Amino acid sequence: MKIRIAIDGPSGSGKSTLAKSLAKTLGLVYVDTGALYRTVGLYAKRNGVPLNEASKVTRLLPEAQISICYTEAGQRVILCGEDVSDLIRTPEMSMYASAVSAVPAVRSFLLEIQKRMAAEGNVIMDGRDIGTVIMPDADVKLFVEASPRARARRRHAELMEKGDTSSFEEVLEDIIKRDANDKNRAVAPAIPADDAIFVDNSDMSLEETHDHALNIIRAKLNRSLC
Ligand code: DC
Repeated sequence: MKIRIAIDGPSGSGKSTLAKSLAKTLGLVYVDTGALYRTVGLYAKRNGVPLNEASKVTRLLPEAQISICYTEAGQRVILCGEDVSDLIRTPEMSMYASAVSAVPAVRSFLLEIQKRMAAEGNVIMDGRDIGTVIMPDADVKLFVEASPRARARRRHAELMEKGDTSSFEEVLEDIIKRDANDKNRAVAPAIPADDAIFVDNSDMSLEETHDHALNIIRAKLNRSLC
């Protein structure tokens, strides 16, 4: 039986960390779909598309060659032959990703690659519309949440570690802005699937979140095997 697990949730909820550790425990391939939107964001920026006119990226999409590959360092995203996996992890690219992700042409452009990976099975995918659009028939759907302040605290610590000088307030403001963009867009809004199970990890450590999610997944998978 091929397992497919969907993990959705807002920025900084820890869903990527969770998905990565669950993938390791369960022997699944981890697919970070946010990296695809970030890559389109980088492509838009490089081609002079202003952040507030993100839909202008539409006419550039036919030239954008984006693929995913796996190395010992995990998932890498390749844009027109260049590994951009590290370049897309900046606050600016977070905002660009959020802006381009509201453009319908961008969502359909990235649909095929995501559906292809979903169809291969034995995957755990994280994003915003995995349970609703990409894998509506996933075996388990989790919606990972945490309060905006808890998420900003984590993101801020991560950025500081990388040498980024953004303040906590700036990170919090970006998170609130991105939440609003992602939830209110017309296409594939970042909302939980009807059958998603909520995991609020505001007061949980990484290990506690992992163990809690693993219990949910095991219970759900055992039930569907019976
Ligand atoms: O998960 P992330 O922070 O790397 O995602 C970056 C942006 O991409 C996020 O603001 C919303 C968008 N996104 C999306 O719309 N759908 C997905 N499946 C994944 C990400």
